[in-house]
Amino acid sequence: MRDWTATAEAYDRSFATLCDGTAARILADLPDGDLVDIGCGTGLLAAQAEREGRSVTALDADASMVEAARGRLHGRVRRAALPELPLEDAGADAIAANFVINHVGRPRAALAELHRVLRPGGRLAMTIWPAGGASWSMLLGEIFDDSDAVLPPPERLPADEDFLRSADGLAALTREGGLDIEQACDLTWEWRIRPEDLWAGLAAGIATPGAVLRAQTPQIRARIREVFTARTEELTDADGVLLFAVRAAYVLAVRPPGEEV
Ligand SMILES: C[S@@+](CC[C@H](N)C(=O)[O-])C[C@H]1O[C@@H](n2cnc3c(N)ncnc32)[C@H](O)[C@@H]1O
Repeated sequence: MRDWTATAEAYDRSFATLCDGTAARILADLPDGDLVDIGCGTGLLAAQAEREGRSVTALDADASMVEAARGRLHGRVRRAALPELPLEDAGADAIAANFVINHVGRPRAALAELHRVLRPGGRLAMTIWPAGGASWSMLLGEIFDDSDAVLPPPERLPADEDFLRSADGLAALTREGGLDIEQACDLTWEWRIRPEDLWAGLAAGIATPGAVLRAQTPQIRARIREVFTARTEELTDADGVLLFAVRAAYVLAVRPPGEEV
C-alpha cells in the first residue's frame, strides 16, 4: 500500500484540504460525545470535532501524521494501524474513518476490527474515493501525457481483498463486517487549492498522481513541473486558486444495537 512516511507537512497544505470537504457531514451524522478518528492524518476533522465540544481519540499509522495531529489536538493521539487498533472491545460510540479504508491493505479485516471496537448501537462514518477518476486527477493525467511521463502499473489489492470502490461497494464490505447500513451515498463539494500547495502534495508522493510523479526521471519531473505551471496558470481564478468539483463515496453504519458483546 502507499507509503505515507514523513508526508504530514505536505499533506496538510494539499490533500488535507480536499479530505476536509466531508468532515462537516461526518460529524453531523455521528452522535455527540466521544469520537475515535481512525487514520486521522494531520487532525483537521478531529480538531473540528474538538471545537464542537467532543472528546477525541485520534489514531494514525504514520509517525509524521501523529506528530502533526498532536500539535493540533487536545485529545489523545496514538500511532496505530488498521486492522489492529489498541482499543477495547465495544468501547466506542462514534468512529470516523475519512478516506482511510481506501488505503488499508486488508479492508475486510479492517471492518471486522471497527466492528469489534464499536459498542452495540455505536456509529461508524467512512468515506473512500470512488472509481472513475476525479476532476483534479484527470487534469494531472493530461499534464503527465503532455510531459511524456511513463505511468507505473496501478496499485491494486489482491482480488480476494479488494472491494468495489463506490458507496454500494463500501456498504457491501461494511455489511460483511457485521454492521448495518444507515446511509450509502455520494457526497459532492468543491475543492479550492493553490497550485503551489497541490504541487507540494504531489512532490511528496501523495495520492496516485504523486506516486506517478515520484516514478519519473529527474528530466521528466522537470518537464511535468513546467507543464503543470503553464496549465494551472490558465486555470486559476482571480485569487490564484484552482477549483475542482469532487465526489466521495460515503457510508454511515451502526453496530446492531441488540448484539451481544
Ligand atoms: C487520505 S489520508 C486521510 C487523513 C484524514 N482522515 C483526513 O481526513 O485528512 C489517509 C490517512 O490514513 C492513514 N493510514 C493509512 N493506512 C492506515 C491504516 N492501515 N491504519 C490507520 N491509518 C492509516 C495515513 O497515514 C493517512 O494519514
